[in-house]
Amino acid sequence: MLLAACSCGRGEKITRVPVIPAPSDVELYNGPFCEDPGNIRFKEKPSLGEDAYTLKIGRKGVTITAGSQSGAFWGMQTLRQMTESLEALPTGVINDCPRYSWRGFMLDEARHFSGKERVKLILDEMARLKLNRFHWHLTDAQGWRIEIKKYPRLTVIGSTGSHSDPDSPSVYYTQDDIREIVDYAAERNITVIPEIDMPGHAGAACRSYPEYAGGDWFGFTFNPGKEETYSFLTDILREVAGLFPGKWLHIGGDEVSYGSEAWMENPDVKALMEREGLEGVKEVESYFMHRMADSVKVLGKTLVCWDDAFDVGLGAEDQVIMWWRHDRADKLRSIAENKCPAVLCPRRPLYFDFIQDSTHRVGREWDGFNTLDDVYGFPENRYSRWELSDEELGEVLGLQANMWTETMQDKARVDYMLFPRIAALAEAAWCIPLSKDYEHFCRVLEREYERYESMGLYYFDYRDPSAHPEPQGPTVIPQKPINYFK
Ligand code: ACM
Repeated sequence: MLLAACSCGRGEKITRVPVIPAPSDVELYNGPFCEDPGNIRFKEKPSLGEDAYTLKIGRKGVTITAGSQSGAFWGMQTLRQMTESLEALPTGVINDCPRYSWRGFMLDEARHFSGKERVKLILDEMARLKLNRFHWHLTDAQGWRIEIKKYPRLTVIGSTGSHSDPDSPSVYYTQDDIREIVDYAAERNITVIPEIDMPGHAGAACRSYPEYAGGDWFGFTFNPGKEETYSFLTDILREVAGLFPGKWLHIGGDEVSYGSEAWMENPDVKALMEREGLEGVKEVESYFMHRMADSVKVLGKTLVCWDDAFDVGLGAEDQVIMWWRHDRADKLRSIAENKCPAVLCPRRPLYFDFIQDSTHRVGREWDGFNTLDDVYGFPENRYSRWELSDEELGEVLGLQANMWTETMQDKARVDYMLFPRIAALAEAAWCIPLSKDYEHFCRVLEREYERYESMGLYYFDYRDPSAHPEPQGPTVIPQKPINYFK
């Protein structure tokens, strides 16, 4: 009926479609409609670049033109969401490309282990939303989650325990599991970036191999004074580099000061300082990070670090710094001045372990919390007050949300903190400000809520917060700043 009625001429023009993230340029018509949406042709046009695509919907079928495999894949995601929501497919053209090349999500599996099936589910959701970097935080004080053949104790000893139960049984990914996940991600256009955190957050490795431990709190840091530490860590990175074909390797570098004071009492570190003329803990940290950055380079990878590493002299044009300290805009400015590629993942609003409603009790907050519209509005909203010029921000590669899991001890809590904020993240990372429209986004989200229901996901319902009460967790973390190790 509908098709016949409209076949005599063009129907009303549509400039918005029920797709998350919203495409940048839509010119479609409500009639005539496409009679065969399953008839899809692909065309290559290298000038379109990495992620861009054109979706041309005609009466007889659909043509997706893209410069690469990724663009074609994103075009398919757009088509898929449209066919899920619309009874009939309008004809016309969508031209779309992302604002940022790095559209990331980080999952911490060291504090609480999610496991392969959950990771695959997250990768499916990321792909649907055109997110393309999965940062995998695989090691920390609470657990080591990746098999390293040369050092089996890492997964015999280091993989036991979690944030809520230091005696919980061993859980980790074998190298075959890792390859399976990496392939699964690659099929969805997602690059996996492994993180092996050092020299801090090293507790699980130091429990397994105490000979390389160098700091407070049951070995929060590796020992930077021992030459063997560098061989041990480089061996580990070598195996890791071989498992992850992507070009990036993340070596952490955050919050070293939580354990580095103990270095001053360590005879190996004292000898190193004497030998290298180093003056204090910061200089030792800098020495350590530069040595490990060299290892990453020799392994043929691009270094990624948290912004703390910038303080000790890392952060060059061929390194990626993740800016997470939202209260240190000065750091972002310096990173930009150094022309160092940056990924913005500030705690406010891009940490998904922060609560999202004033009634919530489990999770972090810091001068407020991270709501759906805070995430959506980033970086134009109030967090943009870093007084950086567009030119300086030109070095920004993209955005990333980080899911730390101290308060995420089960599936319900992960779901609750992730859905639907991950959809808002996708709009923030993909859409230029002109194509953002929060009300439209919330309308499209109605379909996502239905999908979450059908998938059995325990999402936070922004329409009615009482619909899904906050799942309780092991820890209530009220205010700033948090030191988990005291
Ligand atoms: C971090 O939140 N320590 C990167």
